Amino acid sequence: MPSYVIVGASRGLGYEWLRQLSKDSSNTVIGLVRSVDQVQARLDADSISNVRILAGDMADSASLEKAALEVSNITQSIDYLIVNGAYISPKSARLNPSEFTGRAAELREEMVDSLEVNVVGVIYSVNAFLPLVRKGTVKKITVISSGMADTDMVVQHDIPGSIVYSSIKAATNMVVAKYAVELRGEGIVVLALSPGIVNTQEGLISEEEMKVLMVLIQKFQVFYPDFKGPITAAESVAAQKNVIEGITLEQTGSFLSHKGNKEWL
Ligand SMILES: NC(=O)c1ccc[n+]([C@@H]2O[C@H](COP(=O)([O-])OP(=O)(O)OC[C@H]3O[C@@H](n4cnc5c(N)ncnc54)[C@H](OP(=O)(O)O)[C@@H]3O)[C@@H](O)[C@H]2O)c1
Repeated sequence: MPSYVIVGASRGLGYEWLRQLSKDSSNTVIGLVRSVDQVQARLDADSISNVRILAGDMADSASLEKAALEVSNITQSIDYLIVNGAYISPKSARLNPSEFTGRAAELREEMVDSLEVNVVGVIYSVNAFLPLVRKGTVKKITVISSGMADTDMVVQHDIPGSIVYSSIKAATNMVVAKYAVELRGEGIVVLALSPGIVNTQEGLISEEEMKVLMVLIQKFQVFYPDFKGPITAAESVAAQKNVIEGITLEQTGSFLSHKGNKEWL
């Protein structure tokens, strides 16, 4: 009867984790979100009943500690902790580093907001739930990263954009490496996992976003001729789950794609 906590589970891939895990009634599935009522209403509408939703904001360590206390009353231990939530700013998503020239305050604000959730918030999340992971039998912590944080990929595939997101996610990977080294003696596996390029957009993609996406896709197709475009959240989570289940203590600290290697698409 494995137990899972998904941090940042309100929508997109986080919600898909809840949906897929809930299909096995022997799973204990707990999702942390910032908007409990909204997510509970969505679960009800989707007829998903075996998921517990708790309040948890990655930027607020006290809320995560409170959630961990509530979880300890539900399961006493956690097998899988998945830290999925992330600050993803639409404002700076496409910008190259030099495009922030003359926009110092905006750069700082974007960096700080991103750091607060994607780095500090990851540490808050892991620290809050670590005592429960220690008591689990599987002992696996996964932090959702991005192929955009792979420096070799950026250079080889010629991707100057998304400076804020990419550099902060690279820092997230270092957080994973540090936890991996700290915790391997306790048999705890820590993984940075990229979900692939996934269409998690709810509603229609705007014309402007579609143009940007097409440019990226054309760029990627040079390196990945089989790449046809974003995969679905369902495909991504199924693939991520395989990677998480297959990873061993010898691989702790790895930064892998949903394919279990360095193929990010
Ligand atoms: N989709 C892709 O192609 C792709 C590619 C590479 C990596 N990723 C990574 O995959 C993960 C999920 O991405 P996604 O596409 O599903 O993103 P998404 O649809 O934009 O969802 C982001 C999730 O993060 C949550 N979140 C943001 N700030 C939070 C906070 N302070 N506390 C708790 N939760 C917070 C959001 O909750 P609210 O509803 O409360 O805002 C939401 O559930 C992220 O780590 C992302 O960086 C995605």
